[in-house]
Amino acid sequence: MDNYTKAKDLLANYKQEHLFRFYDELNNEEKEFLINQICTLDFEQIFHLYEASKIDEAIPSNLIEPLPYLEKAKLSKNDTSFLENIGKNIIRGGKYAVVTMAGGQGSRLGFKGPKGTFKLDIPPKKSLFEITCDYLKKANEQYNITINWYIMTSIYNDKQTKTFFENENYFNYPKENITFFTQSELPVIDISGNLILEETYKIKEGSNGNGDVFRAMDRNNIIDDLKKKGISWVFFSGVDNVILEIVDPLLLGITISQNCKVGSKTLFKQFAHSKDWVFAKKDGKPAIIDSCNLSEDMINAKDDNGNYLYRDINMLAHLFNISAIELLAKKSLPYHRAFKKNTFVNEEGMKQVPDSPNSFKFENFIFDAFEFFDNISLLRVKEEDEFAPIKDFNGIHNPEIALNMYKNKFRK
Ligand code: UTP
Repeated sequence: MDNYTKAKDLLANYKQEHLFRFYDELNNEEKEFLINQICTLDFEQIFHLYEASKIDEAIPSNLIEPLPYLEKAKLSKNDTSFLENIGKNIIRGGKYAVVTMAGGQGSRLGFKGPKGTFKLDIPPKKSLFEITCDYLKKANEQYNITINWYIMTSIYNDKQTKTFFENENYFNYPKENITFFTQSELPVIDISGNLILEETYKIKEGSNGNGDVFRAMDRNNIIDDLKKKGISWVFFSGVDNVILEIVDPLLLGITISQNCKVGSKTLFKQFAHSKDWVFAKKDGKPAIIDSCNLSEDMINAKDDNGNYLYRDINMLAHLFNISAIELLAKKSLPYHRAFKKNTFVNEEGMKQVPDSPNSFKFENFIFDAFEFFDNISLLRVKEEDEFAPIKDFNGIHNPEIALNMYKNKFRK
């Protein structure tokens, strides 16, 4: 069967014939592109994900337990210095690397170009990538090493990201210590359950979530590279938190001293009933759970020292041992669906930018990796010290607030 017939059959089987709406108007190259894309998509998987993601399973409360954490502000000077020294030895020994996950669409910010290239007027104007790089440079000076920096891009923003780094001369970071790798994509689906066109000849796909990072590292030989370089601990974060300490000997020291393979920084959830997901044990394993699974009693539960048990929230600042990364590279994480704005080609063949979310994107979340381990080390830090992400222009995580928090941090 030729590819044209195969593509037509697939569209008919999955009731997606609208994707061929403009076929007759396409040039030969575009026709070939669309046919190839249709033939390589896994329609079965996409529609299965769509159906499965509609089900929100509640977690029975008897399966939920609190997870212990350490609070940075409450550690004694001696404990802090003891734990930091453990971490410092790892960093100084060249056994620490950083992964910046920058494959997201940044759809809420709506900035043209990869989110990491968005600039804050500090002054001077600095991109989010450069701000991240500054933390690495500072650590390199402090430890007299060069930390290896890995940057995850998506198929969509890879080229633009690399060109940006080249044009900025890699912010004078040693080029040989920066490695880019690309994550996978999945088609997005509109509210009627249909795939959408991004161009008249192209189906809209989006990166499949930051939880693809471990498999992407495997596919792109990053894990081999880490092992070759003798790196045993890797820190993972997003590209948009401008005050996060990405080289943190304390988190390393705590994780190692607690004999864990995974560590994470957390924030105290200020408002008991906010929708933020919280750290907890789920069926005996560390996890982040939707707080709608917590009863009122659990929300208010405290330990003997008066500390809340279910008030630690995720800030996308995770540490994984190399053995954990190797294990996760072979695992499948669940898919969640995220409702996002995606530009589409309408029935008249015109590109339309929606004002509000119009389609579902399927994403693996990195935090679902925690459930593959028995324990996790949690370090609670202060929001004003480490959490100023940029998500959109109008909400609480906007560039202006992030810039102020950045300035306050460095003024201190
Ligand atoms: P967010 O979930 O905040 O997504 O990602 P986003 O792409 O920045 O923005 P929205 O939701 O579309 O508005 C948190 C971090 O995870 C990365 C992002 O680049 C960001 O640094 N990420 C997200 C990936 O690397 N890949 C993905 O598929 C999704």
